[in-house]
Amino acid sequence: MTVNSNNSNRADAASDDYILQLEGISKFFGSVISLQDVTLRLRRGEVHCLLGDNGAGKSTLIKTLAGVHQPNRGRYLIEGKEVHFKSPREALDMGIATVYQDLALVPLMSVARNFFAGREPTRKWLGVFPVMDMQHAAKVSVEKLAEMGIHVRSPHQPIGTMSGGERQCLAIARAIHFGAKVLILDEPTAALGVKQSCNVLKLIHTARARGISVIFITHNVHHAYPIGDSFTLLNRGQSMGTFAKNGVSKEEVLDMMAGGTEIQGLVDELEGRAAA
Ligand SMILES: Nc1ncnc2c1ncn2[C@@H]1O[C@H](COP(=O)(O)OP(=O)(O)OP(=O)(O)O)[C@@H](O)[C@H]1O
Ligand SMILES: [Mg+2]
Repeated sequence: MTVNSNNSNRADAASDDYILQLEGISKFFGSVISLQDVTLRLRRGEVHCLLGDNGAGKSTLIKTLAGVHQPNRGRYLIEGKEVHFKSPREALDMGIATVYQDLALVPLMSVARNFFAGREPTRKWLGVFPVMDMQHAAKVSVEKLAEMGIHVRSPHQPIGTMSGGERQCLAIARAIHFGAKVLILDEPTAALGVKQSCNVLKLIHTARARGISVIFITHNVHHAYPIGDSFTLLNRGQSMGTFAKNGVSKEEVLDMMAGGTEIQGLVDELEGRAAA
């Protein structure tokens, strides 16, 4: 990874306010334009919702933030310094933690093992050989999850036996525990019911209260609006702008999203208001 520390490169005078910035990012896959000239600026300690319909480019954007994809054009800055990540590990080492749509948990492994996956605590077996310290992992994972309001039956329970919401919460709690500065969540509530979605939203609130900046990707305005401080709308790879919560209503956000007009049209039609 390379980090360019060049103050004259700063996007604007207020870039100190931002923990993370994408400036004019484009990403192509062959002839497919996934992102075109997208700018996204994340303020410290805010929940920034990234909204857009299927195929809008949301996952491509967060994979770019997470170091999975390298952008074809544009600049990526963390705390005002330009970065070029070559791998997700490099992004993680800088405190950019991503919980992907598919979660990246191992269903057959226990809660404790998943919690510490890739960062296993070790102890010396026979005073010589390093082995995973399961006792410590079990104790800490249960304690840390409880601190965030997640109560697991047993740390030895396989992740596959937990509900989708519990798994999502575990993945988020793990990122918070390991010192994320920026937490990126790709559609964490997409497959969840009302109660479990509420638990995830509460956890996002907990993260913000701990000073973590959050990018929350969703296509559900009803989940985004209550928790979000600002909203960026993506439509077919292009940004339709960023809006602060006090400058935009839930209805306006819904209207701006791809499909918003169609839904309104359908509502009008169902209520017999459609033009004859
Ligand atoms: N690795 C890839 N190779 C080719 N095209 C890709 C690749 N990744 C994404 N795309 C294309 O980029 C566009 C945006 O996809 P992306 O997955 O970012 O959308 P999304 O907003 O996350 O959608 P969803 O809500 O369905 O998750 C799509 O047209 C997709 O087919
Ligand atoms: Mg996606």
